[in-house]
Amino acid sequence: MHKDKVKIFDTTLRDGEQVPGCKLETKQKLVIAKRLDQLGVDIIEAGFPISSPGDFNSVVEISKIVKNASVCGLTRAVKKDIEVAAESLKKAVKPRIHTGIGTSDSHIKHKFNSNRDDILERAVAAVKYAKKFVDDIEFYAEDAGRTDNDFLATVCEKVIDAGATVLNIPDTTGYCLPNEYGKKIKFLINNVPNIDKAIISCHCHNDLGLATANSIEGVINGARQIECTINGIGERAGNTSLEEVVMVLRQHNELNLDTNINSKLLYDTSQMVSELMGMIVQPNKAIVGSNAFAHSSGIHQDGVIKNRETYEIINPHDVGVNESAILLTARSGRAALAFRAKKIGYNLSKIQLDKVYHEFLKFADIKKEVTDSDLPHIIKLSNI
Ligand code: KIV
Ligand code: ZN
Repeated sequence: MHKDKVKIFDTTLRDGEQVPGCKLETKQKLVIAKRLDQLGVDIIEAGFPISSPGDFNSVVEISKIVKNASVCGLTRAVKKDIEVAAESLKKAVKPRIHTGIGTSDSHIKHKFNSNRDDILERAVAAVKYAKKFVDDIEFYAEDAGRTDNDFLATVCEKVIDAGATVLNIPDTTGYCLPNEYGKKIKFLINNVPNIDKAIISCHCHNDLGLATANSIEGVINGARQIECTINGIGERAGNTSLEEVVMVLRQHNELNLDTNINSKLLYDTSQMVSELMGMIVQPNKAIVGSNAFAHSSGIHQDGVIKNRETYEIINPHDVGVNESAILLTARSGRAALAFRAKKIGYNLSKIQLDKVYHEFLKFADIKKEVTDSDLPHIIKLSNI
């Protein structure tokens, strides 16, 4: 059955790199950009070119090497930002300028000391100006999550008229509930008269742990691009995690949505970004955490040994993990012990297994995890 494509806009190198202490050098960014291109992301947000000479240079170099994805540079709704971004993207095969401005009353009042009419004018002017340099213009309505829907719809209509090809609706503060964010997207689909001329993009932050759920609600309600980062890294609690949204869409056939991502590269890419940024992946992280396919309780282990699908909804091979792990801890059962002993050459009979299990539990109560190298010793102590 035909599935609608959701574009993946990766912002690991821009929003992701805003994590304190995780700044990358151009050389490292190039390694990641190359991998993102192989992974199949549709757009790579390579940086915020006006922010520093280093970031400008990174966008220039990334633009030269990326073969398939669009390369995007972030700007404020400011002429100089747009000129600098356009300059940095000159060598890109598919350049995109990502410009925008805060649209919530809070941003309008506190950040800009301004009013809605002025913000609308600046938004339109920025898109028109960016359009002089490149065709593909994405507009972000910063803090759209807390922006009044009628005003947001007006902004969207006017920036599309000005030439925007993508409308980014960020939940900048990670405040929205999934159904609220989904309704916002649906409202725009139903109330922006020229919406057929642009794609709506979800850009959700994870302050309440809802970034993935919100992005999925967004695409269920008509958005066709998700902005995300590898391992969900980003400011504060991070951005939507790329691996999570990709696998949600892949596992849920009934949504009829898919991406261009080669999921077999997900685990390796996660490790690469973690190492280059010096930021560990939490062990229980969905899809790519070290425990995502590890089973430690006896009941679960028995099930997985009989049939993996009893406790796993994803085949680890599909995300580049070699195999599910059966861990040996004090919560493990006989099935797990027999399974692991067999793997290193001990075929234990039922009586032998009972004896070894007895010794194993004493050992496991002291040691947090029993390894393959402990097993011969435990078997020897069992006198079988
Ligand atoms: O979270 C946000 O609103 C952003 C914009 C700059 C796109 O990152
Ligand atoms: Zn953001």
